[in-house]
Amino acid sequence: MIIRRALLSDARSIRDLAQELTIPRKSCVPNGLEGFVVPDVDGWKARIEGNKYFFVADTDRVSGFLACYTREHLRRFAAQDEVKRALLDDREVMAYLELLGVDRKYRRTGVANALEERLEEELYHDGFTHFHGIIAHAPLRNEASIRLHLKRGATLVRELSAYDGMVFGVYQKTIAAAKLRE
Ligand SMILES: CC(C)(COP(=O)(O)OP(=O)(O)OC[C@H]1O[C@@H](n2cnc3c(N)ncnc32)[C@H](O)[C@@H]1OP(=O)(O)O)[C@@H](O)C(=O)NCCC(=O)NCCS
Repeated sequence: MIIRRALLSDARSIRDLAQELTIPRKSCVPNGLEGFVVPDVDGWKARIEGNKYFFVADTDRVSGFLACYTREHLRRFAAQDEVKRALLDDREVMAYLELLGVDRKYRRTGVANALEERLEEELYHDGFTHFHGIIAHAPLRNEASIRLHLKRGATLVRELSAYDGMVFGVYQKTIAAAKLRE
């Protein structure tokens, strides 16, 4: 497996994988992209184009992806989305990890960790000291993602209610402190 920057030609595979990972709010399996409205292929291309912080795990195909945006990039998608607007209102948010997903066949083999490591290296290189992300807390609590991120050293900053009945944890990961310890 290699971790590489996403290409426009990955948009379709990423769309397909995102569809597989999306779960309804009333799902009995809490590990997934809860209630996520999956963008079409052009929507993914818009997220990938010019974005240094969109990565894929490449086995013989796309088996995982991670999409992070700077404030400037985020503004392009923020207009219609209440979570993104709330994050942009928070001046602490410099980079926002929107999406992380790994094909079920490759889970628990370190793919998500490898994608986040790569993100942190790139952000650190570019002078970012931290990034934020949100994880569903209710109606379903995404324990897999919470455990992954707490184990990586992220901390819960606050909760955010959105989309008529969902609650998300806003998590912050400090990068520089982790890198300085190495
Ligand atoms: C959450 C997700 C990205 C984890 O991907 P992964 O590649 O399996 O994660 P890793 O193998 O790198 O796991 C790293 C650590 O995270 C934690 N973790 C990952 N999956 C877990 C699970 N199902 N239950 C509990 N802890 C879990 C563990 O601490 C794990 O370390 P360990 O395997 O040594 O115990 C994956 O399950 C997924 O794609 N879920 C659906 C989409 C989603 O929920 N994305 C996050 C939205 S916020």
